[in-house]
Order: sequence, then structure tokens, then C-alpha cells
Amino acid sequence: MNIAFFLRTGDAAVPPEPPLPEGMTLRLWRPNDKSGRDPLRIGVKIQHLLSLYDDDRYTEIGIWFEGTRLHRLIVTPRWHRFPFMDRGDLQIGGVWTHPAWRRRGLASLSVHRAHRLFAAPGQRLWYVTDSANGASIALAKGSGYRPAGEGRRTKPLGIALVGQYRLDRRYTLA
Ligand SMILES: CC(C)(COP(=O)(O)OP(=O)(O)OC[C@H]1O[C@@H](n2cnc3c(N)ncnc32)[C@H](O)[C@@H]1OP(=O)(O)O)[C@@H](O)C(=O)NCCC(=O)NCCS
Repeated sequence: MNIAFFLRTGDAAVPPEPPLPEGMTLRLWRPNDKSGRDPLRIGVKIQHLLSLYDDDRYTEIGIWFEGTRLHRLIVTPRWHRFPFMDRGDLQIGGVWTHPAWRRRGLASLSVHRAHRLFAAPGQRLWYVTDSANGASIALAKGSGYRPAGEGRRTKPLGIALVGQYRLDRRYTLA
């Protein structure tokens, strides 16, 4: 088992968001917005049109500086690739910061924004990552997520893109 599952309940307080560094802009993208030629967004639009997501809260948060994307994070509703989620749950994933801009708080800032947008009372948010990814785990823990279990990612016919994240061992949360 090499996938770590983290969970945050909406009852945890959302601390004030750190300020966006000078010159940077934070942009939201949703499947009904224009996509340009970004292959990930085109795929998401198709999945949205096919109603593969449980609801319409799919949101990409991006942080940009002078036309360059420095950071991206995706909030995803439940769909077939995440069978461990309950109806109404959301997941923070696809977190990436440009290598030259890591450890400057951009990922924490964008997780904060996701919480401000979605962390209503009772809202459960998942964070799933490779259990060897120290930076990602530090981000999850620092953002108020608690270890919820461990599992694996399936690869039907060797294709990771269509695989599922399976939560094989669920921890009892205090
Ligand atoms: C994981 C990743 C998104 C973190 O982005 P970042 O912008 O550097 O993160 P931040 O600067 O906001 O740091 C968030 C927390 O993680 C900690 N952290 C970041 N990088 C770390 C590292 N390499 N080792 C240990 N801790 C680290 C920070 O100290 C901070 O902790 P704190 O809240 O206790 O202060 C970035 O390293 C990345 O893009 N990695 C490659 C893609 C990836 O693995 N994504 C995760 C997939 S789920």
C-alpha cells in the first residue's frame, strides 16, 4: 500500500488566508469556462459534459505571475476514480508548484482558498498522495488534514489514468 489518505472535516476552523505575494494573481477555472488548449481541461470538460462528476463543484485554482502559471490545485467532487469518497465529499488534488517557486507558501495559500470556497460546516475534504511524498504530506498536515487510511492506486491494463484510488485500510478517526 503506497497511497496515503487524509481527511479534513468542515468543522475545522478556516484560518485567515495569507496574502498573495506582490504581482501574483489567483484565478479560478471551472468546466463551463473557456479551456484554451490545455489537454487536462479539455478532458475535464468532456467528463463534466458526460456528468461523470457527482456535482458541479469541480474547480481549478491557479496562481500566476507575469503570464506564467506558478501553481495549480484541483478540487474534485466524487466520481468513479475515487470510490472511497461519500456523496457530497470533495477532494483536493493535482497540487503542483513550479519547481523554482516551491517552499514559498503558494500551495498552502491555494489550499486556504479552496477551504474558503468549499469548507462549509460538515463538508468533508480528502487529500490523497503517495505515502513517500514528504512535501505533499507536510502540506496536507499543515492544512489541517488528518491521516484517514492507506491504500493503493489501480492500473487496469497498465493504464494509470483510468485507475481508481482504493482505500484498503481505514483508520478510526478520534
Ligand atoms: C507538494 C508541493 C505542491 C508543495 O508546494 P509548495 O508551494 O512548495 O508548498 P508550500 O510552500 O505551501 O508548503 C506547504 C507545507 O509543506 C512543507 N513543505 C513543502 N515542501 C517540503 C519539502 N520538500 N519537505 C518537507 N516539507 C515541505 C512546508 O514547509 C509547508 O509546511 P508548513 O505548513 O508546516 O509550514 C510541491 O512540492 C510540488 O509541486 N511537488 C511536486 C508535485 C507533487 O508531488 N504534488 C502532490 C501531489 S498530491
